[in-house]
Amino acid sequence: MITINIKVFDTKEQIAKEAAQMIATQIKSKPDSVLGLATGASPILTYEALIEMYKQNELSFKDVTTFNLDEYCNIPKNDKNSYYTFMHETLFNHIDIKEENVNFHDGNAADTEAECARYDALVEEKGGVDLQILGIGNNAHIAFNEPSDEFSKGSYKTKLTDSTIEANKIYFTESEMPQYALTMGVENICKAKSIILLAMGEKKAKAIKNMIKGEITPSVPASILQSHSDVTVLLDKEAASLL
Ligand code: F6R
Repeated sequence: MITINIKVFDTKEQIAKEAAQMIATQIKSKPDSVLGLATGASPILTYEALIEMYKQNELSFKDVTTFNLDEYCNIPKNDKNSYYTFMHETLFNHIDIKEENVNFHDGNAADTEAECARYDALVEEKGGVDLQILGIGNNAHIAFNEPSDEFSKGSYKTKLTDSTIEANKIYFTESEMPQYALTMGVENICKAKSIILLAMGEKKAKAIKNMIKGEITPSVPASILQSHSDVTVLLDKEAASLL
């Protein structure tokens, strides 16, 4: 049986340091690595640690390509709440990555099916994701793959659940929280050669328990990671409290 590698840390900073080290090791061993990136609160300190490595001349992103997991539908690309803006403010504006190497779904595409097909084909063309960074929702979603009756395959347009809208609407102070997003599918995500999932806080404890100890089921989207051969889960004590 494949086992998920679980590491529990005392502080968020230690989680970030470990994740950033793993990402740096990947980039140093393959400077033109393809990274899969997540938004949200969980990876922010990791991105800060990567920026610090770049500033110290320890790491360069000049040949790195990135694919983000998801993007909201029907908000302008440059909206303050778009994931495009989040990633630029949180990471890309502070490192030497080339703008043409950063990729997002176009949440405003008229033909969302064609846009999703374009995105997935581009990931393949670039050789697939070498290292995927993931967060996890309180309901065990990964990317915007919400609990469902079947595991999704490629990228698609999804309706966000009330739980996700509730968790994310704090960011939408000046505009309506979008109800839809384009997201990579579960099968897409599992094609990554290796995966790091980050989770902090007791709100994540149940999702982490179900993901690691429960059966593999689309009602717990993250449980699919049990079937992947190279997953590392970095947790604080609160997120690990039900294991
Ligand atoms: C973000 C994403 C989401 C988040 C998840 C956790 O690109 O795909 O699945 O990873 O909602 O969010 P935080 O880290 O804010 O708790």
